Amino acid sequence: MSKPRVLVTRRWPVSVEAALSERFDATLSKDDAALDAAQLRDALLSYDAVLPTVSDRLPAALFEGDAVQSKIIGNFGVGFNHIDVAAARAKGIVVTNTPGVLTDCTADIAMLLLLSVARRGGEGERELRAGAWTGWRPTHLVGTKVTGKTVGIIGFGRIGKAFAQRCHFGFGMDVVFYNRSVVDPAEAARYGARQLQTVEDVLQVSDFVSLHCPGGAENRHLMNAARLAAMKPGAFLINTARGDVIDEAALIAALEQGTIRGAGLDVYEAEPHVPERLRVLDNVVLLPHLGSATEETRTAMGMKVVDNVTAFFAGREPPDRVV
Ligand code: DGY
Repeated sequence: MSKPRVLVTRRWPVSVEAALSERFDATLSKDDAALDAAQLRDALLSYDAVLPTVSDRLPAALFEGDAVQSKIIGNFGVGFNHIDVAAARAKGIVVTNTPGVLTDCTADIAMLLLLSVARRGGEGERELRAGAWTGWRPTHLVGTKVTGKTVGIIGFGRIGKAFAQRCHFGFGMDVVFYNRSVVDPAEAARYGARQLQTVEDVLQVSDFVSLHCPGGAENRHLMNAARLAAMKPGAFLINTARGDVIDEAALIAALEQGTIRGAGLDVYEAEPHVPERLRVLDNVVLLPHLGSATEETRTAMGMKVVDNVTAFFAGREPPDRVV
C-alpha cells in the first residue's frame, strides 16, 4: 500500500523530518519560505495531510469546493487560530495540535519578558551595544522591583499555570488570575494563585498583566483601549499568547501616552509585521515569537505532529485532535 502524501510547510528539526520521511511520502520544505494562499490551496487539493505552522493562514475560502483531498491538518503548534477549524470540520478534515510540550518554554519567555521590561534589560543592552554606557551610577536605568508585586494572569490553562508557578514560587509575587471557567481554589493554590471574577478585577490590582488565553474571534482585542486604561497606573503588559488578543493600535497609544508603563511582547497582530511606532519605543521589549523556540520543545512538537498523523492514518484516534 502506498504511503500517505504529506506536505510540511516549513523546515522542522532534522530528526523530526527524518521520522516523518520514514513513515510517509513526505514533501519537506526546501527554502523554509512561508506558503501563500494559492500554495496552501494547492496543498489541500493534492496532499493527504498538510502540516502547517502559525505562519500559514488557512481561512474558510481555502476549504471551498469538492476538490479538497486532505484528510488531516497536523498543526505544528498548540495555537490554531490561523486555521478555520469550522470550515475544516465541515469538510470532514481532522485538525490536530501540539499541547503540553511547549508549556514550560512559553512560560519561561513570559518570565523573561516580565523581568526584561521591569528591569529595563532591553534598554541596557541597546545602550551598551551602542557604546553609550558611561559607567555605574545610582540613577542609571532604574527599573521596577518584581518581588512582592502582583501579577495578573488572563487565562489559567497549562501555560498560565506554569507562569503563575514561576512568578509565585520563583519570584515571590502575588498571583491573581481570570479564567472563563471556575478553577478549584485548591488547584489554583498549587500554583500559588487566586482566581478573581472578571478581567477588570485582575486589571485593577495587577502591577503586571500577562496574557495566556487563546487567540481568534473569542478573545480578539480583549485588551482594548478601555481595558488598557483600566490597568493600574505604572503597570506592565506581557503577551506570549496571540497578537490579536491586544488591540495593537490602542496599546501603542497607551504606551506613548504613559497610560501603562511598558510592555513585553512575543506576538503581534500581523506577524511578522511589527509597527514602526512600537519598534521605536523604549518602554517595550519585543521578541520575534520565540515562546516555544528551544531545540527540545521544537523536536517534541514535531514528534507530536508525527504521532498524530501516524495515528490518524492507522485508523486510530489522533491524541491531540482539535476537531
Ligand atoms: C504555538 O504553539 O501556538 C506557538 O505560538 C507557535 O505556533
